[in-house]
Amino acid sequence: MLKSINLKDKKVLLRVDYNVPIQDGQVVDDYRIKKTLPTLRYCLDHGASITIISHLGRPKGVDENLSLSPVCDKLSELLQKEIIFSEDCISDKAFVTSSSLKKGQIHMLENLRFHSGELTNDKDFSRMLSFHGDVYINDAFGTAHRSHASNVGVVDFFDEHCMGLLMEREIKYLIDEIKNPINPFIVVMGGAKVKGKIELIENFLNISDKLLIGGALSFPFLKVKGVDINSPLLNNEDIECAKKILSIAESINKEIILPTDFVTSTTLEDIDNIDIKLNKDINPSLGCFDIGPETTMHFSQILSTAETILWNGPLGVCENPYFGTGTQQICRIIEELTNNGVISILGGGDTASAARKFSQSEKFTHISTGGGASLELLSGIYLPAIKKLENNDK
Ligand code: 3PG
Repeated sequence: MLKSINLKDKKVLLRVDYNVPIQDGQVVDDYRIKKTLPTLRYCLDHGASITIISHLGRPKGVDENLSLSPVCDKLSELLQKEIIFSEDCISDKAFVTSSSLKKGQIHMLENLRFHSGELTNDKDFSRMLSFHGDVYINDAFGTAHRSHASNVGVVDFFDEHCMGLLMEREIKYLIDEIKNPINPFIVVMGGAKVKGKIELIENFLNISDKLLIGGALSFPFLKVKGVDINSPLLNNEDIECAKKILSIAESINKEIILPTDFVTSTTLEDIDNIDIKLNKDINPSLGCFDIGPETTMHFSQILSTAETILWNGPLGVCENPYFGTGTQQICRIIEELTNNGVISILGGGDTASAARKFSQSEKFTHISTGGGASLELLSGIYLPAIKKLENNDK
């Protein structure tokens, strides 16, 4: 645990996930950066200097469009503090800078993925990264499902290592609170991609009191139940999985609650033919782009009985203003319930974006900074970076 390490006069090597969207050289979403500030401030307040490492995007070699320099500027602005930037994470110059850091100083290294050794978890690359510090802290939850040099291999080169405060918080909410939730525990799931969510649904079927499914994720289930729905997102494999999940649900006497109506149109662009249709009136020429008002009302009523809520995935094409109402209303009700003491946990990149679009992130108990990492963790997978830190605990 971070709080049990003596950081006075130590050089911290801090792995963060600053894989954030950048447009025209500016960070356009600083949520992930802001969430690491408690760890940074904690280290500085306890007498350490910090060298920060992160990846950005998926470069093939050095790519100036994927430089972390704009991220360094954003962090400097958020902390109101100068940050030294090194243009190569393993150059001699970068090592000299790290070793001459005074307590309270921050040094940020260029994109780790400019070196191929990062993705291949190369031992020599890990060893070189370890020269930057004497304590290793991993606060990069968003990358915890990857087995790379900077989050797995590097751990072997440190006697003192631990998770950062963000990583601890992600684990508290995505593992502990969900394993032992305050009941009733209600899960809302949506999103466009069914692939990768099947394990998640199976997991939640067992541990939740009620499971609500909207968005395109509901299509294969509705198809099995005889709704004449059609979508390019539907395929036979998902329909077979839905069949299996529905039969598991029946055998354990749990109901999967699905939409009963949708906001439809012929295409996403056809705003003149937007309509609301009950499931029985849906036909293959219609696209179902949002949950309808009856479904929103029903989901809201069920959510209002919860003590713990987990929300993963938008309930419609919410980036389109004509089809965002269902997601917006569910977001608002979860926000209101959180205000009344309910624990709300939001996981997945699209859910986090939707929540920040329709509400303020501080209104929820926890919005995960992980996309793929939170989905894997919620599916019950022991993430390699977390496993490494825990297994190497000295
Ligand atoms: C993310 O944004 O999900 C993480 O930073 C991981 O990025 P990756 O999928 O490129 O490994």
